[in-house]
Amino acid sequence: MMRASAPGKAILFGEHAVVYGQPALAIPLTQVQATAAIQPGGNEFWIEAPDVRRRYTLAEAAPDDALAAAVRLTCARAGEAAPPPAVLSLASRIPIASGLGSGAAACTAVVRATAQLLGCPLDDSDVSAIVFETEKMLHGTPSGIDNTVVAFGLPVYFVRGQPPVPLRAALSFQLLIGDTGVASPTKAAVADVRAAWQKDPQRYQKIFQAVGDLAREARNIIEGRGNRPAAFLGELMNRNHALLRELDVSSPELENLVTAARAAGALGAKLSGAGRGGSMLALVTPASEAAVRKALEQAGAQRVMGTTITP
Ligand code: PMV
Repeated sequence: MMRASAPGKAILFGEHAVVYGQPALAIPLTQVQATAAIQPGGNEFWIEAPDVRRRYTLAEAAPDDALAAAVRLTCARAGEAAPPPAVLSLASRIPIASGLGSGAAACTAVVRATAQLLGCPLDDSDVSAIVFETEKMLHGTPSGIDNTVVAFGLPVYFVRGQPPVPLRAALSFQLLIGDTGVASPTKAAVADVRAAWQKDPQRYQKIFQAVGDLAREARNIIEGRGNRPAAFLGELMNRNHALLRELDVSSPELENLVTAARAAGALGAKLSGAGRGGSMLALVTPASEAAVRKALEQAGAQRVMGTTITP
């Protein structure tokens, strides 16, 4: 039996603007994982995803099926026309369409397990490149940040088309991630931002630039440079959220959670990922964590996860 896992991810700064060449910061979320297990045998290659009640053969997969594409692209990379007969089972603890990278994690796990099945060693950048192809099927015009942070499993400072730069924290930062429970396909939000940008490129370019400036400043604070206190990261999150609102990717549910987190003492809060639903994050301290968690739950969060960025 071959088995491989990949983490979820959260974008700290720079979503959407990253599609237009601005930097973004993201971290893996190791407490939620997608796992692919492959049992060789039988006479066909089956793909099972019991969480979403799906079972089909590779031969009958739809042309835009990302899991099947992950298998086929890995075969091509290994110089094989097709995989040997087997059953591939995918299990994921990452909520779907919630801005936490479920698609990239599922495909990363499938690529790694398939590579094991074929006896073809792949490094993280090979895996990331294959998953980027599947992201195009899922997202339309992805920046590549999801496949990068998930395949490398490291906090990153990411610029589209450039090798990822590890984000090296100088201090610990404690975050809470609240899921609105509203499924929001990334593809639709990204396409809407693109349409708006095409109508008014000057205005949108300014917003993207301002988001990029925040991501650069946030990187300096996280990495311990500059003269701003660590808590200023919260203020930067609030400013990034305001710009995401200008991009029209917030939603009433996200606003509820962001407002509740701030009122309960978070140093800052913003939506995370494509928006319109999905998740938000709040910067907290050991002293405010419990109150912010409770406030998020009371404001309707379907799930609240904690994570820490550590040196
Ligand atoms: O997959 P999500 O929902 O975390 O969104 C990805 C981030 C975007 O910047 C909105 C799109 C992209 O490809 O970078």
